[in-house]
Amino acid sequence: MSFRNISKEALAGSITLGVVLVAGYFFGKSGGKKKSSKMSIFKSHAEGKDNPLLQYVLNNSLREHPALKNLRLRTMEHSLNFIMVACEQSQFMANLAKLIKTKKALEIGVYTGYNTLSIALTLPDDGVIVACDITEEYANIGKPFWKEAGVEQKIDLRIQPALKTLDDLLSDGQAETFDFVFIDADKVNYDNYFEKSLKLLRKGGIIAIDNVLWSGKVVNPSPGDTDTLAIDKLNKKLHRDARISLSMLTVGDGLTIAIKL
Ligand SMILES: *[C@@H]1O[C@H](CO)[C@@H](O)[C@H](O)[C@H]1NC(C)=O
Repeated sequence: MSFRNISKEALAGSITLGVVLVAGYFFGKSGGKKKSSKMSIFKSHAEGKDNPLLQYVLNNSLREHPALKNLRLRTMEHSLNFIMVACEQSQFMANLAKLIKTKKALEIGVYTGYNTLSIALTLPDDGVIVACDITEEYANIGKPFWKEAGVEQKIDLRIQPALKTLDDLLSDGQAETFDFVFIDADKVNYDNYFEKSLKLLRKGGIIAIDNVLWSGKVVNPSPGDTDTLAIDKLNKKLHRDARISLSMLTVGDGLTIAIKL
């Protein structure tokens, strides 16, 4: 794959600055006028061409399945493409999932299903990823690529509020059976997603939480900024949460890795 392809396309996949519009997607509000914080380790991702170090990382570590690459390129044509998870982050999470021999995964927030596919590709033949979103519109973009990769039968897409799906799974007796969870949806519900996911997770399982640095806004949240406040509150809670061990990584827009003890 040419450098031009990687730098433009892969880096576009790394963009995490469009958080305001993301909130619009999840809440049906438009807050598109807000400025992203200047304090940001992620800005470089958005301006990937000008970040040789990130280019170097992608040049020397990104290994995408052809269908995954095709889905990334297709997603880049979509107007909300900045909400796609960073491809290098997705690969890292797939490696983590594989490391702990994930058979059952859960994803809260699908969009076009790039990460869904990335995880599905690491699952064994009898593995499953339960993928939650409130709309099928964007997942429909990803489905042909899930099929192209031959893993669509491992993806259990549930279109309804994720909290409902998590409750369904719990009342279905699936507590303590999931190996890996990825949370990347509306921020005000992050704590609810975390708590229900923790119930669904087995000991030694991993919850990965995206956007935990929220373009740097968590450092100094504005009083009325409910998204930032929700993320900051969860970050502080997890820091002293004795049920998990914890790392907060500065990859993408900030990624928390919580391992259930
Ligand atoms: C990335 O790879 C391309 C060649 O594929 C090369 O031209 C470019 O200099 C590389 N960038 C870095 C920072 O390694």
